[in-house]
Amino acid sequence: MKIIMLGAPGAGKGTQAAKIAAKYQIPHISTGDIFRANLKAGTELGKKAKEYMDQGLLVPDELTCDLVTDRVSKDDCANGYILDGFPRTIPQAKALEAALEKMGTDVDYAINVDVPDANIVKRMSGRRACVTCGATYHIEHIPPKVEGICDRCGGELILRSDDKPETVQKRLDVYHAQTQPLIDFYESKKKLVTVDGTKDMEDVFADITAVLEG
Ligand code: AP5
Ligand code: ZN
Repeated sequence: MKIIMLGAPGAGKGTQAAKIAAKYQIPHISTGDIFRANLKAGTELGKKAKEYMDQGLLVPDELTCDLVTDRVSKDDCANGYILDGFPRTIPQAKALEAALEKMGTDVDYAINVDVPDANIVKRMSGRRACVTCGATYHIEHIPPKVEGICDRCGGELILRSDDKPETVQKRLDVYHAQTQPLIDFYESKKKLVTVDGTKDMEDVFADITAVLEG
């Protein structure tokens, strides 16, 4: 099963992608997580990506496309994968399509997690992410068992540097201008599935699995 997650920043793509990856035993490939891991490791890619991420802008396609097309060609992706945060522009979608075509495959579903902008800023200000493993929580909706500590690995939970309200608004503007056109792109290819992302996390997951198993 080869799945793309679409949706605004904070729509819950990462939350649902992690659940899908665990249920179907497929790799969860998040470009945001890859950039953040590179930043933590002090690589050139991480330093370059940070310049854009901290402003709420997209990292240029030339730093992003090869990274993902190389990753999906690895052996552990043979049975499928879930792409979270990629593609985010039409050129990225076309680069992915071309790379998969060369491999003789294509994506099966583009799942659009639909949440209105008004809900997003509130969600982002409550999000906490683990500095060690990247797991995501929400102080009201999905709290950790112990405040400030990751359930999974015991790591420290922090507010992401790009989750400040002014940066979130910029990310939303960038989403509408550059990423939203992908909804029509995948609709025209009959791959699009839209789920109501304002529902409770478990209900959103049930709606997604109903489609994947339907
Ligand atoms: P990235 O890390 O991909 O961020 P994003 O797309 O902005 O998405 P988020 O991770 O913010 O949100 P999400 O939809 O995964 O929501 P989550 O599940 O955490 O990218 C960061 C940056 O990297 C970009 O701005 C860009 O600069 C760069 N980048 C990445 N990929 C790129 C690419 N392909 N090209 C160029 N640049 C790229 O949920 C949000 C919160 O809500 C959490 O607290 C969660 O617990 C809570 N929540 C989730 N579901 C629910 C629910 N149903 N009800 C209530 N709360 C919920
Ligand atoms: Zn953790």
